[in-house]
Amino acid sequence: MWAGRFAKSLDSKADDFNSSIRFDCKMYKQDILGSIAHAKMLEKQSIISAEDCEKIISGLTEILEDLNNGNLDFDMSCEDIHMFVEAELTKRIGEAGKRLHTARSRNDQVALDIRMYLRDRSEDIIGLLRELIGAITDKAEEGKAAIVPGYTHLQRAQPITFGHHLMAYAQMFLRDISRIKDAVARMNYSPIGSCALAGTTYKTDRFFEAEQLGFSGITQNSIDGVSDRDFCVELMSAFSLIMMHLSRFSEEIILWSSWEFKFVELDDAYTTGSSIMPQKKNSDMAELVRGKTGRVYGDLFALLTTLKGLPLAYNKDMQEDKEAIFDSLETVEMCLDIFAPMIRTMKLIPSNMYKAAQEGFINATDLADYLTKKGLPFRSAYKIVGQIVAECIDKKTVLDSLTLEKYKKHSDIFEEDLYSEISLEACVEKRISEGGTSVASVEKQIALVRKELEI
Ligand code: ARG
Repeated sequence: MWAGRFAKSLDSKADDFNSSIRFDCKMYKQDILGSIAHAKMLEKQSIISAEDCEKIISGLTEILEDLNNGNLDFDMSCEDIHMFVEAELTKRIGEAGKRLHTARSRNDQVALDIRMYLRDRSEDIIGLLRELIGAITDKAEEGKAAIVPGYTHLQRAQPITFGHHLMAYAQMFLRDISRIKDAVARMNYSPIGSCALAGTTYKTDRFFEAEQLGFSGITQNSIDGVSDRDFCVELMSAFSLIMMHLSRFSEEIILWSSWEFKFVELDDAYTTGSSIMPQKKNSDMAELVRGKTGRVYGDLFALLTTLKGLPLAYNKDMQEDKEAIFDSLETVEMCLDIFAPMIRTMKLIPSNMYKAAQEGFINATDLADYLTKKGLPFRSAYKIVGQIVAECIDKKTVLDSLTLEKYKKHSDIFEEDLYSEISLEACVEKRISEGGTSVASVEKQIALVRKELEI
């Protein structure tokens, strides 16, 4: 490609080391569409002839079709996808192919291709997130009245519904969708026309090119246009947060599936056995998702570290962006893809949830609220209930079973109605505050999420 300046060709190991085609070939479609838009712009600006433009466009269209249909293999001896497409075009149409690279550089080409590729692939991730939120809302509906302990510090805290707990995850994944959309909106500016770094002496029309390729505008500074990879970092941060959410969810699913909890049972199709212990049913998928979270964080840090200290503008170090972002994207995609059906097929075991909710004095706050509503200051009520809990622990009983007579010894405010006030059902049903755990509130949360996603 750079024949002229060089007397010798590249050492074959150096050639392999330098080349990126084995991973940037994923962007062939974006590269070709970018080149078609570029040819049209060159023709419109009278930089190339209409005849050459037509040859270039039909040549590129055929290459795209051949690659799509598997009729053309990537030539791995080319340094990257940009060189492969150009070389293949020139092989097919001759001289005109050599005119395509006027008023552009691989530096702005690669910056363009990654933006277009990530823009397309972000849609796939959003689709999978929608799918997952759909599975969560359906499962939440199924468990909207299933009472389960809510935890803080992994200690039983207050009764909640399982549906309420699941809907917390729906909110996290909704934020993930909006974060990806934000990142894409900021990324959607075309760098093409920045050329190597300084712009060009040709009378190009960058707006025309940007518009054809569906960008909202053009990058304002050519040096920034070719050296910016912020959008990769932003997307990888968004992917890291998705993984963090999936990992927290995985951890809970693993706990819930254990014999110690047994609130849920994962479908056989999403669990594995042990090669030695016949009784085992392991939550491998959830564990693997939790494990892969580290890998996605690693990809983010790899790119941040690569970019740190890079002088402007393009440096070859930046070729390292692609493997990191592709790996992060593909890992998130794989995890989301397995997670939605795993949630859909997960069996709830409400009887075990209820049994756990009956232990651990999770209605103690409601007992204190009972006294407070009858006029006692909350701090005094809190202290009395603390003493009653201590007595129950001592006598190996629970708040619901202690006699009224015993209650009266702690305070004569207690009456028979305390029992209905502290039943698990009442504890849940009374929590009608917006976003709270009552069945009505959870139903509202489900409806709002479905409306937002139009599902
Ligand atoms: N393969 C290169 C990359 O991925 C394309 C840009 C190369 N530009 C250059 N001047 N070497 O970053």
